[in-house]
Amino acid sequence: GEPCYILAVETSCDETAVSVVKNGTEVLSNLISSQIETHKAFGGVVPEVASRKHVESITYMLDEAMQASGITPRELSAVAVTQGPGLVGALLVGIVAAKSAAMAFGKPLIGTHHIAGHIYANQLEHDIVYPCIALVVSGGHTELVLMESEGQFQLIGRTRDDAVGEAYDKVARAIGFPYPGGPHVDRVAHESEEVVTLPRAWLEPDSYDFSFSGLKSAVLNVINQTKMRGETVQAGAIARGFQESVVEVLVEKAIRAMREYRAKQLLLCGGVAANQGLRTALRERCEREGIELLVPSMKYCTDNAAMIGAAAYAKWKRGEFTSLDMKADPGLYL
Ligand code: KG4
Ligand code: ZN
Repeated sequence: GEPCYILAVETSCDETAVSVVKNGTEVLSNLISSQIETHKAFGGVVPEVASRKHVESITYMLDEAMQASGITPRELSAVAVTQGPGLVGALLVGIVAAKSAAMAFGKPLIGTHHIAGHIYANQLEHDIVYPCIALVVSGGHTELVLMESEGQFQLIGRTRDDAVGEAYDKVARAIGFPYPGGPHVDRVAHESEEVVTLPRAWLEPDSYDFSFSGLKSAVLNVINQTKMRGETVQAGAIARGFQESVVEVLVEKAIRAMREYRAKQLLLCGGVAANQGLRTALRERCEREGIELLVPSMKYCTDNAAMIGAAAYAKWKRGEFTSLDMKADPGLYL
């Protein structure tokens, strides 16, 4: 049939992103403007500041992404945008821009779930085979999602408190790294010969839920006690202990879900999929168990719009379009 070209917009947090994706797999253009430098001064993402920054760059980026794609607005099949979850003010900027583009070009709108986007990031480089399990790990999310077929999402586990990335960033801050600290913790964890043993939160034996706030508190206690004794904080040993605890629980629960649901593939996605400790542990474990593991390249792990284009394509194929009076939904259900 006719090729499908989707113009996709993502502004749920601190990256303004616009992309044009062909047939849900071929990325024709992929622009990302990160606000990390702006938010660094505050030690985290400030919602109001995020919205303003999105407003400053979105129009220009829409234009750039179309130019770089080599296709004309006439050729577009649809305009997709992240509807939620995320920061409501940030989401609104992308939604207004996408609606305007859809109206101006006379194209249908496709509201997309941010996590569906992270999961479908895998489709940009691999073929997803169902049933599959997605382990979504980012600054805002920690979820195990079962997909029995395309476009079907069943949340089988989620964090009951902090998201993994959030816990990484808080621990990083406590041991003195700038925001976002996840990559720093990852690095020093690898360099350290020493390890501080920390607890693992398994929760109920059959639960696929996660909890990281206890672990985070344990880290803060170790740091405080060390300081009270007048000793130097062993950042590497703490980072390594924290990472080992996080990785062990994530890997164990993901593998158990793979077995229980007889899934054919394990999809790792979200910003924390960049974590070397997690990637290595999952790769080794999957190899041993004969499980096929999909991991998107780094640029598709962190927030981007190409993943939204890939997720929207699945909806486009089913003719699932979204009304132009659609609203941002910060707590959107998958
Ligand atoms: O998916 P993402 O870009 O944004 C959200 O949707 O949240 O994820 C960002 C998160 C941050 O918390 C960051 O610290 C974490 O991913 N992160 C890492 C690593 N790289 C990024 N955490 C641990 N190890 C890493 N290498
Ligand atoms: Zn994300």
